[in-house]
Amino acid sequence: MTAHRPTAVIVLAAGGGTRMKSDTAKVLHPIGGRSLLRHALTAARGTEPDHLVVVVRHDRERIVDHVGVVDPMVVIADQDEVPGTGRAVECGLAVLPADLEGTVVVTMGDVPLLTGETLRGLVAAHDETASAVTVITASPADPTGYGRILRDDAGNVVANVEHKDASDEQRKIAEVNAGLYAFDVGVLREALTQVSNDNTQQERYLTDVLAVVHASGGKVTAHQLDDLWQTEGVNDRVQLARLGAELNRRTVEAWMREGVTVVDPRTTWIDADVSLGRDVTIQPQTQLLGASTVGSGVTLGPDTTLTDVEIADGASVIRTQGSLAVIGAGATVGPFAYLRPGTVLGVKGKIGTFVETKNTQIGDGAKVPHLSYVGDAEIGEGSNIGAGTIFANYDGVEKHHTTIGRHVKTGSHNVFVAPVRVGDGAATGGGAVVRRDVPPGALAVSTGPQRHIEDWVQRKRPGTKAAEVAAAAAGEDSEEDQEPT
Ligand code: UD1
Ligand code: MG
Repeated sequence: MTAHRPTAVIVLAAGGGTRMKSDTAKVLHPIGGRSLLRHALTAARGTEPDHLVVVVRHDRERIVDHVGVVDPMVVIADQDEVPGTGRAVECGLAVLPADLEGTVVVTMGDVPLLTGETLRGLVAAHDETASAVTVITASPADPTGYGRILRDDAGNVVANVEHKDASDEQRKIAEVNAGLYAFDVGVLREALTQVSNDNTQQERYLTDVLAVVHASGGKVTAHQLDDLWQTEGVNDRVQLARLGAELNRRTVEAWMREGVTVVDPRTTWIDADVSLGRDVTIQPQTQLLGASTVGSGVTLGPDTTLTDVEIADGASVIRTQGSLAVIGAGATVGPFAYLRPGTVLGVKGKIGTFVETKNTQIGDGAKVPHLSYVGDAEIGEGSNIGAGTIFANYDGVEKHHTTIGRHVKTGSHNVFVAPVRVGDGAATGGGAVVRRDVPPGALAVSTGPQRHIEDWVQRKRPGTKAAEVAAAAAGEDSEEDQEPT
């Protein structure tokens, strides 16, 4: 087992998030493809607690639904109408067993860059110093808004004073409270009973526990953190973007260290749940989102956005938008392709330039190279779809399926009017409108024989440049015709 483990982590997420000016709860806003709350829960889980509690109030139902999806083992605690982080923790403790012993960690739902590793370090420091309370502190360039850490002459932490309650002298203190703590659970329960709402905000502050514990002879320790990003909370959308960019910078750097070439880290966005193999090369302006997985030796971009796309080894995807698609090993996609959900491209297959696909399986070595729409279809291995082909899957009421067999060659500018099947090894002529099933090995043609209405341009468009050059060319032809052989 891990050497230092908390018995419980309580994540505070009951606040309103007014400064976001949003219809969505603050902790549900995402960075790196995960909600702020999911980042907080991931860090909390990293300490392997026996109990993980989230305290909720504002936008309760949506947050509870979300938590049920991302971490179903989390216990929900409801904060009542009494405001303040102290009250929030009390409500969190209320859902835990009364005889709980050991360490309780408290974190904030809006501090997304915090890692499980940092929290494990906090718990280890708390254990090793045999403290009653250990608080993570930091010294940001601008401490405005944070609680300040008050120490005595010997350097012992004696209290926290909130910015709004602090004197001018106290506001000069650089060391701030990061809002992340380890507590002895018994000490915390007892101290909270002595916390009042006697302050400018008339809230019951968790931060007052520091002074209460110190006054009763308990040991309060500051655990200083140099990585300020891990202590920064999101209060508005400016901070959301700022922390989102830093999270991405960290994610991209981590992948480079794992053997991924990123040509332009600043314009490359990789979500937290994406995985990449060795020797992947990412060109500028590429976003890998959701739970996308990328095999080794793949080249991606430039100008590519893939969400929940699975790409096998050695494939290449250029200037493409895709979601919920699967790309086979060694396959090529783009430039200018649009892969919609349900697209499955086989090994060494091709989805080429200006091609849109949806709910379509394209077999190994099969190709849709140019200017086509392929929806609700299956294309067998080794088949080639001619340029400018439309799979007409929608009759205005319902969607229908098209099946193209193996090693089929279709002409340019075909329309496949679904439902329709083309047999193995068959072919179609240029411009065919295929409305009936084509037997294996047959050539389907649906256009009439070409006929010519002679001198139509000279008669119907007299005086035009076209008529002039046509007449001249016709004259030459007739002169040639008249030459004796
Ligand atoms: C808090 C600390 C401050 C610290 C700062 C670090 C207090 C009183 N102050 O201030 O010392 O420097 O964090 O970021 O604790 N919440 C509840 N219920 C409530 C109020 C808040 O669950 O009644 C939750 C919020 O959803 C949020 C977290 O607690 O996740 C922090 O609340 P917030 O109002 O942002 O506190 P700060 O003013 O940032
Ligand atoms: Mg805050």
